Amino acid sequence: MSESVPPLSPAGDRHFDGLADKFASSLYGGARGELRLALLDHLLPEMLDLHRQPLLDVGGGLGQQAEWFAARGHAVTLAEPAGDMLDRARERLTGHEVSLLQAPLQALPELAPGPWSLIVCHAVLEWLADPRGALATLVGLLAPGGQLSLMVFNRDALRLSNVVKGNLEKALADRLEGKGLRKRLTPISPLTHGQIEAWSAENGLVIREVAGIRVFADYLRNPPDDDTDREQLLALEQRYCRVDPHWRLGRYLLYTLERPIRFSEEAAL
Ligand SMILES: C[S@@+](CC[C@H](N)C(=O)[O-])C[C@H]1O[C@@H](n2cnc3c(N)ncnc32)[C@H](O)[C@@H]1O
Repeated sequence: MSESVPPLSPAGDRHFDGLADKFASSLYGGARGELRLALLDHLLPEMLDLHRQPLLDVGGGLGQQAEWFAARGHAVTLAEPAGDMLDRARERLTGHEVSLLQAPLQALPELAPGPWSLIVCHAVLEWLADPRGALATLVGLLAPGGQLSLMVFNRDALRLSNVVKGNLEKALADRLEGKGLRKRLTPISPLTHGQIEAWSAENGLVIREVAGIRVFADYLRNPPDDDTDREQLLALEQRYCRVDPHWRLGRYLLYTLERPIRFSEEAAL
């Protein structure tokens, strides 16, 4: 049965109601989705200080990331506004210690105020009308010393892939973002590293780590077609995902952002 896609949310965000099938097949179904998960599997333990702490997964989608953390002993609260995404997450997460909450990020100060020592928000801000305001909301949920694992769709990589595909006029006009219409999966607010740096600074967040997710894979003329090529591509991605300049053109940018403990808070601990 074909799913229909409702309009943008009142806040102007693209909730993924009606997009669960397309998202599952085009973003996670193929080699790129596999690569994304393999890279996160490699990077998250390197980039985060993990000690089985409880965490909030914001815009948790189909629940792959929640499953990864739950399997490593974290009690996960997954918040997601789209009911059909949440249904699939529920199926996937049967048997894991995960609480599900149907809510958008904007409602979390009321519904899941924490404070949380670990928040995960992967590939969500680019689907919001006001990603800057959303980052400020996430900071308000973080405990002093807490870590935010933030992944965003990289606007600079989107420009490069448009040029590589021959969409020169679109690139020259800088018409890169999607409009959130129908089932298009081009994000409405692709973001730059400069924006994340500026918005982190204005919220008192420190960028502890950064990496690019798929720094080569999306630009290949010939995608790998056997296991040896796939393994070599993964090895290249792993080797260069945190090396300048390669990380800067990853399809996604992955950050560990930390809310430092202020002197007055340290005294109270
Ligand atoms: C590209 S998916 C990412 C899902 C998951 N985090 C992952 O990495 O696979 C974007 C998700 O953000 C959700 N989303 C959209 N607007 C949101 C909002 N205002 N608050 C929280 N999540 C939102 C969508 O419903 C969708 O499930």
